[in-house]
Amino acid sequence: MVPKNFRWLIMPLALIGGCSSEKAPEPAAKAALTLQEFMTQKIDVHADAIWAIGNAAIDDTASIDPAKMDEKGWTGISQAAERMAVDARALAALDPVVVTRPGVKIADEGTAGAPSPADIQGHIARDHDTFRALAGTLATHADGLADAARARDAATVGRLVNEMDGVCESCHLEYWYPEQKALVKQIEAAAPVAAASR
Ligand code: HEC
Repeated sequence: MVPKNFRWLIMPLALIGGCSSEKAPEPAAKAALTLQEFMTQKIDVHADAIWAIGNAAIDDTASIDPAKMDEKGWTGISQAAERMAVDARALAALDPVVVTRPGVKIADEGTAGAPSPADIQGHIARDHDTFRALAGTLATHADGLADAARARDAATVGRLVNEMDGVCESCHLEYWYPEQKALVKQIEAAAPVAAASR
């Protein structure tokens, strides 16, 4: 079997090669957004729009108070959720996934212990299927949110807005900073032992 990560290794070279005078461009590679661009230009923008409207209308029981919502708010959430679903599906279909462009830093890169684009590239190469599935989960979540907002179903919108960051985090913990997942597990595992030894 051809190792999958070989593709990741040659990707930056393919991009540089595209600048040569020979008429052999890499249209797919050039046109495709990087993972980072998906996050910063699309997914995060839609999420912020949803959170901005949702958080302003969330009451002390952590559900949406319909009295604090107007037509603009409902449409704002449904439209941002529709865009999120489309972009999450495009992210799931992205192949190959290129984390960032040469010379472009990802969030936290360079700070002590922070993952590098190569680390992330490695995590995706190891299990692209789960990455696709998690992007699909975000798309389905966004579908549900768009439906609920169109139906003016405040209870469901409130729940799905509250649960959305967990959907983001489930992929970030798997593919961005999985070493923190181990840490979370360690803490969970250590807690009962510490309690029992007292
Ligand atoms: C299918 C996986 C996946 C899902 C789902 C996902 N992300 Fe990400 N995201 C990543 C990975 C991997 C990185 C690390 C690479 C990077 O920084 O671009 C990242 C990085 C980011 C960054 C930092 C971008 C930068 O400048 O480096 C932001 C902001 C972000 N995600 C927001 C979100 C939000 C908000 C959601 C949910 C609405 C979300 N992501 C859902 C995989 C995902």
